[in-house]
Amino acid sequence: MKEWWKNAVVYQIYPRSFKDSNGDGIGDLQGIIQKLDYLEELGIDVIWLSPVYDSPNDDNGYDVRHYHKIMKEFGTMDDFDELLENVHKKGMRLIMDLVVNHTSDEHDWFRSRPDMYIWRDKPNNWRSFFGGSAWQYDEARGQYYLHLFSKKQPDLNWEKEGVRQAIYAMMRWWLDKGIDGFRMDVINMLSKDQRFPDGPAGDGTAYFINGPKIHHYLKEMNDEVLCHYDIVTVGETPQTGPEEGLRYTSPESRELNMIFTFEHMGVDQELGNKWQPRTYSLVELRKILEKWQSAFQEKGWNSLYWNNHDQPRSVSRFGDDHVYRVESAKMLATCLFFMRGTPFIYQGEELGMTNIQYEGIEKYKDIETLNHYHEQRKQGRSHEKIMQEIYRRGRDNARTPMQWTSGPNAGFTTGVPWIDINSNYRSINTESRHHPQSIFAYYQALISLRKKLPVLIAGDFMLFHKEDEEVFAYERKTETEHLIVYCNFSTNTRSFEQPDGEVLIGNYSKPARGKRLTLRPYEALVFYRQSET
Ligand code: NOJ
Repeated sequence: MKEWWKNAVVYQIYPRSFKDSNGDGIGDLQGIIQKLDYLEELGIDVIWLSPVYDSPNDDNGYDVRHYHKIMKEFGTMDDFDELLENVHKKGMRLIMDLVVNHTSDEHDWFRSRPDMYIWRDKPNNWRSFFGGSAWQYDEARGQYYLHLFSKKQPDLNWEKEGVRQAIYAMMRWWLDKGIDGFRMDVINMLSKDQRFPDGPAGDGTAYFINGPKIHHYLKEMNDEVLCHYDIVTVGETPQTGPEEGLRYTSPESRELNMIFTFEHMGVDQELGNKWQPRTYSLVELRKILEKWQSAFQEKGWNSLYWNNHDQPRSVSRFGDDHVYRVESAKMLATCLFFMRGTPFIYQGEELGMTNIQYEGIEKYKDIETLNHYHEQRKQGRSHEKIMQEIYRRGRDNARTPMQWTSGPNAGFTTGVPWIDINSNYRSINTESRHHPQSIFAYYQALISLRKKLPVLIAGDFMLFHKEDEEVFAYERKTETEHLIVYCNFSTNTRSFEQPDGEVLIGNYSKPARGKRLTLRPYEALVFYRQSET
């Protein structure tokens, strides 16, 4: 199939936390190789590797020091080649993170070719996503450089032809090695408004998100690089609506295949402040997802996700990580998997891994979390209040090591893990995956259904019970197939008219008996029928 990625299920690996093979407490490439059988058993098609390039790890690899070298903690280029070969042998594919909005300040270019970066005599008021000004003064040069993220992540100047060509050459190098595509880090921030205007209250996003030349750059990247390979591309595009999303992903745009939208990830936070909780209803969440489903009905293609290395664990966020952990983890997966788009699973999601709460701030490792904590403390806020925010939203929630076994260090490492393991590993781990009721087994079933039912690719998407505060129900339909999905996002038992069709899958061992459809707490049920022709 030409657009093979429409049929695929992607699994994201955060290498630092996946599997350590040499006892240094940090996950590595050989560790991933050891676990390829596990991924094959799960049934996924594509692995997305978060950055494995050489890096001083100010932002865990999202600060690249050398694009053609492997981070020493993760192994060597030979390990990488072995990994790629083994992935391909299993009939799977591998995509890499492409981090080209910025490099590390330790990249050679920053000292030897500083003109590849963005310099100004005077800073404007833009703030970095990791706190503080987005501009850092450089003594030697007597100017400020822009860093939308940490000050060790200077932004590249995409206005320069030389920068773009250097990046394209680097991309070709990896593609010629045989990788199968890229997940593109904050790709919609490459083009900055060259007037560098101040933004309201320091928010410069209007001047660099989906900036003036972004589509020009992506078309050029496509012409020069992407279109010459049979690959998949997924752009990370914060603060982007469906209209702009279509410009990125419509085939006639010749830019990207898919993007990661953030709208549904923003539903529980105040606009522009991830730390500030916001009460929301299922109606709102559903509206957002529907908006994206409808916008991409004819053209373009969605990515479907609840989790990644930047987001809290979905079962803790949208489900119930205590009483109904298993049910709600499976329900969330059901809700996602039958929508139109390519599903992404983040490591541990298939086990229902949960958020973490460390008592002391010193246990946390993420630069964004640490900066937030210290900035807020300086402003006089209490430790307890800030920790509550970190428990809800901190990125380390997703970064605790993968829970392989109930044995020492969850089977992640024989050494001291770089970040503490969630103590619930004794009960939440891969050992129970062969149990027919396990979350893992449920994901296996969902993944295999995705391969069997053409309606999942071609079918239109329609919501029903649109105003229901607890149950998310939708249908997918072609001329010959009809699928109805019911997901209870609450602990209440609910009853509806029985839909036509056979139960395709459900997250309780048996559907409740009775004439009407009964949904128990967090129950998900999918009905399927073929139309008589
Ligand atoms: C988005 C990545 O997903 C995140 O982890 C990183 O910190 C920023 N981009 C900066 O590269």
